[in-house]
Amino acid sequence: MNVNLLLGLQWGDEGKGKIVDYLTKEYDIIARFQGGPNAGHTLEFNGIKHVLHTIPSGIFHPKAINVVGNGVVIDPVIFKKELEGLDKYDVNYKDALLISRKAHLILPTHRLLDAASETAKGKAKIGSTLKGIGPTYMDKTGRNGIRVGDLEFEDWKDKYRQLADKHEAMINFYNVDVQYDLNELEEEFFEAVEKIKGLQFIDSEEYLFKAMKDGKSILAEGAQGSLLDIDFGTYPFVTSSNTTAAGACTGLGIAPNKIQQVYGIFKAYTTRVGSGPFPTELFDKHGKRMAKVGHEFGATTGRPRRCGWLDLVALKYAVQVNGVTDLMMMKADVLSGFNELKVCTAYHYNGEEIDHLPYNLSAEDLKPVYKTLKGWQEDITKINSFEKLPQTLKDYITFIEDFVEVKVKIVSVGPDRKETIMR
Ligand code: IMP
Repeated sequence: MNVNLLLGLQWGDEGKGKIVDYLTKEYDIIARFQGGPNAGHTLEFNGIKHVLHTIPSGIFHPKAINVVGNGVVIDPVIFKKELEGLDKYDVNYKDALLISRKAHLILPTHRLLDAASETAKGKAKIGSTLKGIGPTYMDKTGRNGIRVGDLEFEDWKDKYRQLADKHEAMINFYNVDVQYDLNELEEEFFEAVEKIKGLQFIDSEEYLFKAMKDGKSILAEGAQGSLLDIDFGTYPFVTSSNTTAAGACTGLGIAPNKIQQVYGIFKAYTTRVGSGPFPTELFDKHGKRMAKVGHEFGATTGRPRRCGWLDLVALKYAVQVNGVTDLMMMKADVLSGFNELKVCTAYHYNGEEIDHLPYNLSAEDLKPVYKTLKGWQEDITKINSFEKLPQTLKDYITFIEDFVEVKVKIVSVGPDRKETIMR
């Protein structure tokens, strides 16, 4: 039995989809534990790019079983579109995809509430993906939510009506301009529900207990990143779930003592989409270059991502919160051609130098302290062994490892499955 976790250490978009897809051959089960269609997990192989939102990234492998855990929130409309996207590739999702009965459903009115709430926030808006994530988790913790398992009972539509009516009253209360035609949205929603009712709903924690007993190997796949965690992220500019390792326990029913390796993924630089503090953000030609070479546009919303230097203080924090055992560095190829690279090793704050994330990361007087390292000029996308990487890139990796005290196990040198170096 092998239960490992894989999660993002920054503000999301680290490249989790690619690595899960790459590692799937070693696992029997891939299980998503939190988040929903706010995620956009990109996979590239055989010259084709796939973006998954709710479906686990192991779905393209013929043998893996993919579990959508209880901690995930599902929008049937988006889920249906994802399934239709898979139809083109002959993916056997009827057998390979299992959905927890305890996962909560995103209703059309959750999406509208998200839009109303963001609009009402004005300049203080979070920059939500507007997929209804926050309102759905609010209904979950408020004990009003509708779960996948409810769809197996006759009266689920009564529950739906009651909740949707309440949401409409709340939308009116916000008193902002949100245009919608609920009849149209509901038609699309009910049609999508019928499609997902054709899939297998399971008691996913029981399924995983048995799988562990039978010695199966499981990879728990996180979404978003640790700095977007509802507890440990840059609140309130965060998502509404626990994106950190603890989220895998609550989002799948896997006990902490069953977890072995925790794989933490980070980009060789930093990006963020949406609002919120980002101490190492660049507004100069270097940031623009990262955005351009790294194609830094949101996989879900298409919004341009903010770019900046690698923040090792934040990375070390995430490593500690998650208990990361192995690091995976993504997009090293994007940094080829920089003469010098900076990494943040501390912050100047309140007249002193600090080595941890302060409570108020947005403080005006908080400034990163940088260490400058030599860059590499070579195109590294065709390199296939760690030893052959440029020495300056190896030095960059060693500096990171020494700082956060965890080894880098994988270096990604391009978007394709093949452009991955395992150490
Ligand atoms: P929400 O989860 O859609 O409510 O968005 C809350 C914040 O998290 C916003 O700043 C989003 O841009 C960010 N966010 C949510 N999901 C992702 C993701 O998968 N990648 C990167 N940022 C995300």
